[in-house]
Amino acid sequence: MKPLRDTWRSRLGIIMAVAGSALGLGNFLRFPAKAVTNGGGAFMIPYLVSLFLLGIPLMWIEWTLGRYGGGFGHGTAPGIFHSIRKKNRFLKYFGVIGIFGPLVIFIYYSYIESWTLAYSFFSMTKKISGLTDTVSLKTFLSGFQGLETNQYFDTIGYAYFFFLLTFALNIGVIYYGIRGGIERLCKIAMPLLFLFAIILCIRVLTLGTPNPAFPDWNVNNGLGFMWNPDFTALKSAKVWLEAAGQIFFTLSVGIGVILTYASYLSKGDDVTLSGLTASSLNEMAEVILGGSIVIPAAFMFFGPVEIQNIAQSGIFNLGFVTIPSVLNRLPLSEILGFFWFGLLFLAGITSSVSLAQPAISFLEDEFDITRKKAVTIFGIVSFILCQPVIFFLKNGVVDELDFWGGTFFLVIFATIETILFVWVFGMENAWKEIHHGADLEIPKFYKFIIKFVTPGFLIVILLMWFVQEWWPIIIMKNVAPANRIFVLGTRAGLFLLFATLAILVKLAWKRKQL
Ligand code: ALA
Repeated sequence: MKPLRDTWRSRLGIIMAVAGSALGLGNFLRFPAKAVTNGGGAFMIPYLVSLFLLGIPLMWIEWTLGRYGGGFGHGTAPGIFHSIRKKNRFLKYFGVIGIFGPLVIFIYYSYIESWTLAYSFFSMTKKISGLTDTVSLKTFLSGFQGLETNQYFDTIGYAYFFFLLTFALNIGVIYYGIRGGIERLCKIAMPLLFLFAIILCIRVLTLGTPNPAFPDWNVNNGLGFMWNPDFTALKSAKVWLEAAGQIFFTLSVGIGVILTYASYLSKGDDVTLSGLTASSLNEMAEVILGGSIVIPAAFMFFGPVEIQNIAQSGIFNLGFVTIPSVLNRLPLSEILGFFWFGLLFLAGITSSVSLAQPAISFLEDEFDITRKKAVTIFGIVSFILCQPVIFFLKNGVVDELDFWGGTFFLVIFATIETILFVWVFGMENAWKEIHHGADLEIPKFYKFIIKFVTPGFLIVILLMWFVQEWWPIIIMKNVAPANRIFVLGTRAGLFLLFATLAILVKLAWKRKQL
């Protein structure tokens, strides 16, 4: 007999879970890095436009499609797309991306998340609290990651230990299911995360002018760096692409996870107000808290020029080198460090469990197996897939996975689901479906936005991307020659994974017809 599908215990529970999925490393590391490298204030206009024209409509689309598919017992995109038009045999294959994408992100995201757990521990035990200069902190990070042996680490063993611990915690949470695991985790983790973020924010905003030699490097100018608008940047295609990409990543839209979470709603549950609330929580954490911790702190200690170099050198440097270097100069640095990395860990785990869930739901819903079996299969497969990430970190494997799983396929998937929703399911049906049980009536002009502007915007982004970036990526122009073999290997692995998932979809549907 088919096992009963899980459900959310409360409305607050699903809002916390979706906000938990959205709020992640993207809010506190990726956003400040993107904002700074794209000129601070210049970034915020395309960012906010993308939020209103892409992010929020996609949030509503995914909540609605998820709830709709859940009504037919499907929690992932193949089944949900199939439910839109059952006569079409191909739609379900487009849905493979909605299982593939989150799985790919999960395998590198969970490893990075494990660093934040390790660094919380190193902060509390004062292993890093004495390090204030960025050179030592960089050496510490490379030693920890196993990229070199040095005075801090002579083995990758510590990193591996914390990876195992983080992986086990993730599996433990999903093992207990939607209401027993994910909902419970998010209800505890989210308030704690906000508490840590608010404490850090207050600490940074009360720093005044910490560097008397440079009175201009103060908190006001630090905030101004991000908030003084610069309209000339609106002409830059790159800034638009980066801003739209950040909206996808941060809201967790275009990935497939919100479809899955929403599939555990009941038919009469509201999606309009809940979706908007979850998005607002994410944006508050990203723009207000994320923007007020990292950017002003780095600005006040390193100044307006160096902050750009730091952001350019990548999000790991920002999170694991620059911010500890600032915090370690302040009193009670071990506690502040613990709050910073604890915040990142909580943000990370509430996202990684959501990335694991689509694969679990797919196995449960489409192969009628128990959660225990589905979690075991997922655990074994994803554990194996994580190994190249850990051992070939320096060879560009993470960047490659992040590009396909965390950037490219997000836009493709979002485009497909939007077209299916408004053009195949039909805008009138879509509008009715969104408003079923709704506690908030969406303003009428959003009907026009969802029907024309959102898909149009997505198609323009894709076209711009093809024109500007496609060829250099295919020929691995920016990959060091020694790493090309690893990047090719990663691409081959991704292709195999995608093909395997597509075959599983075929088998699942064949089974159902018997
Ligand atoms: N939305 C998640 C993040 O921002 C994936 O990290």
